[in-house]
Parts: sequence; C-alpha cells; structure tokens
Amino acid sequence: MGETVRMGNTFVEPQPTPLALLLLGQQSDPDSERGVDCPGELPAASDPDLVRRAAAAKAALGDRVFILGHHYQRDEVIQFADVTGDSFKLAQQAAAHPEAEYIVFAGVHFMAESADILTSPDQQVILPDLAAGCSMADMAEIGQVEDCWSALEAAGVAGSTVPITYMNSTAAIKAFTGRHGGAVCTSSNAERSLRWAFEQGEKVLFLPDQHLGRNTAVRDLGLRPADCVLYNPNRPNGGLTVEQIRAAKVILWKGHCSVHGRFTPECVDEVRERVPGVIVMVHPECQYEVVAKADAVGSTERIISTITAAAPGTAWAVGTELNLVKRLAVANPDKEVVYLDRTVCYCSTMNRIDLPHLVWVLESLVAGTVVNRIEVDADTAHWARVALDRMLALPGATPAKD
Ligand code: 13P
Ligand code: SF4
Repeated sequence: MGETVRMGNTFVEPQPTPLALLLLGQQSDPDSERGVDCPGELPAASDPDLVRRAAAAKAALGDRVFILGHHYQRDEVIQFADVTGDSFKLAQQAAAHPEAEYIVFAGVHFMAESADILTSPDQQVILPDLAAGCSMADMAEIGQVEDCWSALEAAGVAGSTVPITYMNSTAAIKAFTGRHGGAVCTSSNAERSLRWAFEQGEKVLFLPDQHLGRNTAVRDLGLRPADCVLYNPNRPNGGLTVEQIRAAKVILWKGHCSVHGRFTPECVDEVRERVPGVIVMVHPECQYEVVAKADAVGSTERIISTITAAAPGTAWAVGTELNLVKRLAVANPDKEVVYLDRTVCYCSTMNRIDLPHLVWVLESLVAGTVVNRIEVDADTAHWARVALDRMLALPGATPAKD
C-alpha cells in the first residue's frame, strides 16, 4: 500500500506498485491493448523542446485542428486541449466544430469512434496512440452481444427489450443498439436514457457496465436490486435461466471498469475516519456498494463542477481517476480534496496519450500526413449515429458550449 494521497496545499505522491506501473502505462498488458505500434518516429519523451514543438505545430494548423481532451488526460496533454469534458460534452463538441478539418481526440478509442460518427465525412478524427483503448469497452464484443440477443429471442422477450449501451463501447455495439431501437448513454444522462427506454419497452439490456446500469436502475429509477440480473457473456445463456431472463427488468452485461473497481466500501469508511466531515463523491462506474456509501455521484464533468462550486473550507474525497483528482486539488486550494484510494489509480489507456504522441500527430499534420485516423465504416456509422442521436435528443441534452 502507498501513502495517503492528500491534496490541497501539499500533494503526496503514492508509492508505485507493479500494478500501478501498469496503470501508468509504463508496462504493457497484451490482453488489454490494441497492440498497434506507431508507424512513425516518436520524439523522445526526454526532449526538452516538446512543449514548444506542440505549441508551434498547433499554431501552424490554426483553425484546421480542434483538440478534444477528456478529463483523465495527463497535464502535459490537457494543456493543449481546445475543450475539456466528459464523454457527453466531448461528443457534443465533436459535432459542434464542422470548420475543423482535423479533430485530435486526446481520449480513448471509443470516444474517437463516436467523434468520427458525429462529424462530417470530410473531417478526419485522429487518436494520438492507437493503443489507447478501454478495457471496459473490450468486455463486450459484437458477436457476444448478438448471442445475448438470441438468448432473449429464445426467451421470447427480445421484442419488449430496449438495448442501452454506455458510450464506453465499440461502434459495432452502438450500431447494434441503433438497429434494435435503443440508444447510447453516458454517465451524465444514464437516468434519462433508462427512463426513455422504459417508455419504449418493458425491459432494458444494459451494456457493458454492470455498475452504471445497476446504480442507475436502483438508485435513480427505484428498482430493486433483484429486478436486475447479470448476463455473463462467457457462460451459456449468460449463466441465466429462461425464467430469470423473463422475470428481470434490467439485464446487466457483466462488464466493469478496472480503474473504478479499485474503490471499495472500506475506502469510504477509511476516508471518513481520516478526514472528519469529508464529503465523498464518486463516479457511477464504481460498485453499487461504494456508491451507496458515498454522499454524491456524478460524471467527471459533474464531479468537477460540484467541487468547484462548493463552499471554501469543505473537504472532498473523490473516487475517480487520479489525473482529474490531482488537477481538481490544485484548482481548489481553498478546499481539501483527497483521493479515495490509498494507492495510485490512473487509467493506463488514457495515459498512453502523452506529449510525444501529441507532438507526433500534430507535426505530421503540419507536414501534410494524417496518422492514426479513426474511421468507422459507413453502415456501422449510420446505425451507431441513430443510437447516438437518440441520446443527444433526450430532454435536458443541452447544445454544446465552449
Ligand atoms: P465520463 O463520461 O464521466 O467522463 O466518463 C468516461 C469514462 O470513461 C469514465 O471512466
Ligand atoms: Fe475505460 Fe475505465 Fe479508463 Fe474509463 S477509466 S476509459 S471506463 S478503463
């Protein structure tokens, strides 16, 4: 275990463990990477000129490039983002900049795919490191989802089931959802999406994050935990009987985020002892038992806006990725912001986007070469867009603002 991570005026870096090194992206996990090497020559990470080079390339491209930065990105990258946000805001922003020839997505693969789907065909979306995937999105493959749907058909319930997929899923799964009358959701609109789904049908198939699905169904919609069943794609019929499938209101896909899975109910108990009066705020990808013990829950954007607006002198423990929490602590010196876990908890794939990769893609664009383009095929893009547009049309989805 590392030292306590306490922020505010002093930040104590936790001790790295072998797992932490993996989460930092300094080691490799062949099971969770997309395994794509950069075809070009990356500048050395030690090059002291990287910041100047990124700024110069960005300035040379001017309005031709728009850089989107997810809140989990490293400081060295986020400083170059034209806009930062959660998945929902970044999807809106991708769609709101038709003037940009190039959208550089400082985030992960599923976000860049969604940006490609939401932008016009003459805009090109670039992911600085193709190995920046999402282990949760990798937990649902399209063939497995089709098998699941066949199980629902065999149980006679597919016709009354509406699929909802979390943004953290492949374009193929978003397209599946669009074809079957469903929608995409993000952590900031999961409640609205689920309510919408229950207006369209009697049951919901929620992909691929069981925790966001359960938290939303039980906490926000008031369903009982027993109304939800867990579909395990690695077991015949999802490990469920036909009766269980028929009785369920929500069929949760057995997927999760390994970063948010590190927060436990004990972390909440421990921080309450450590920091008297602390307010615990967590991301809805955390387990139900953690969210149940927390004081507040919200998307990355919501976490930032809530703590930014909080009264001076308040203390907050935050259960989400560490780059975000560190920046939040620095930006709020009048409050105490501590990390909910005692060891480092970065998203390894988000961390794969670093300054050398950013410099490489920007300088390549200046030289007239598009590298690491993310392109979704036309049919998949069409149906995925149907599902994304259903989300964007939900009441309360506000137009994008810079
Ligand atoms: P947000 O939409 O809240 O930014 O979440 C995205 C994500 O991947 C969290 O792990
Ligand atoms: Fe995926 Fe989790 Fe990383 Fe978010 S934090 S991008 S869900 S692995």
